[in-house]
Amino acid sequence: MASDISSSLAEGRTSTSATKSARRTAEIAEFADAVLHGLSKRPRSIPSRFLYDATGSALFEDITRVEAYYPTRTETALLDSYGEEIAALAGDVETLVEFGSGSSRKTSLLIEALAGLDTYIPIDVSESFLADAAKRLEAKHPGLNVKPHVGDFMRTRNLAGAPRGERLGFFSGSTIGNLTHEEAKAFLGNAAELLGVGSTFLIGVDLKKSLDILLPAYDDEEGVTAAFSLNLLARINRELDGDFDTTGFAHTALYNDGKGRIEIYLQSLTDQDVRVMGRSFSFAKGERIHTENSHKYSVSEFQALAKTAGWQPVKAWTDPADLFSLHLLRLA
Ligand code: SAH
Ligand code: AVI
Repeated sequence: MASDISSSLAEGRTSTSATKSARRTAEIAEFADAVLHGLSKRPRSIPSRFLYDATGSALFEDITRVEAYYPTRTETALLDSYGEEIAALAGDVETLVEFGSGSSRKTSLLIEALAGLDTYIPIDVSESFLADAAKRLEAKHPGLNVKPHVGDFMRTRNLAGAPRGERLGFFSGSTIGNLTHEEAKAFLGNAAELLGVGSTFLIGVDLKKSLDILLPAYDDEEGVTAAFSLNLLARINRELDGDFDTTGFAHTALYNDGKGRIEIYLQSLTDQDVRVMGRSFSFAKGERIHTENSHKYSVSEFQALAKTAGWQPVKAWTDPADLFSLHLLRLA
């Protein structure tokens, strides 16, 4: 039974109230395992996908509107400029599959450019946010079949109800940067299996750049990114009977040059004890929990990574300030 529930969570089967409630139970069990394990080990860390409950998804949307956070508006401008060219290179696409679709706001630009598109499958772990986004997309694009899929994109093994025709994958926002290189390679391999030979894949990838631009993007003056990070502790309090004092931890972002990535931590401001699901965890002042990575790639670094999973570069586009890149890949 446990493995049935956990495979239903991994594969994101849809959506009677019984499967919804089984999925919810499995999701809380996975969150509990990840938190209890992540707070027990050293260094402490919790996987970044748990940042996205309904509140976290809404806070990420707020981040996309912060002036210092350049990725969303830059990627949107690239899709606006090159959507038609991307659609022409992708060919006669019948199904668009989006990984970590969030609000799907940028996706409309692609949907409008893909003349023969029949079905859109957004995949996301954030269930209610995904359902709302899917409804908005349906209303905006009458005639398009929208089939939301709740689940972990690292473990999605089949796309129930997807037509057999040409498939285009879409992984926007540089969410691939939230994966380590090993995880990104595994993700690209899994996506290759899902999308199939001959398919194309459009991936938004944040570029390496000056720290003057990069650091404020992950630690904005308005405190929106800090609120997004700290929501993880609030989510633990809500769902796992935790008693984190969210004012007792600080959001911290730094650039790890060797690893080419932003690293985000929640750092304890005092010596303190915290309880989660009846277990006690001691934090010394300055001790931290690693909550997120955001890897940055040059165009050639990302193309080399894609090739290790069998994806061949078709074309890459960048903006005039070299902030962000869009990569079109094909599975030979
Ligand atoms: N693509 C959107 C959203 C980016 S935020 C954009 O560019 O604006 C990252 C999204 O990926 C969130 O919606 C989050 O819920 C989702 N996500 C993160 N890890 C995931 C995982 N392992 N499986 C499925 N969705 C995931
Ligand atoms: C979703 N992802 C690509 C964002 C990023 O830029 O790494 C998440 C984020 N975390 C803090 N700010 C934005």
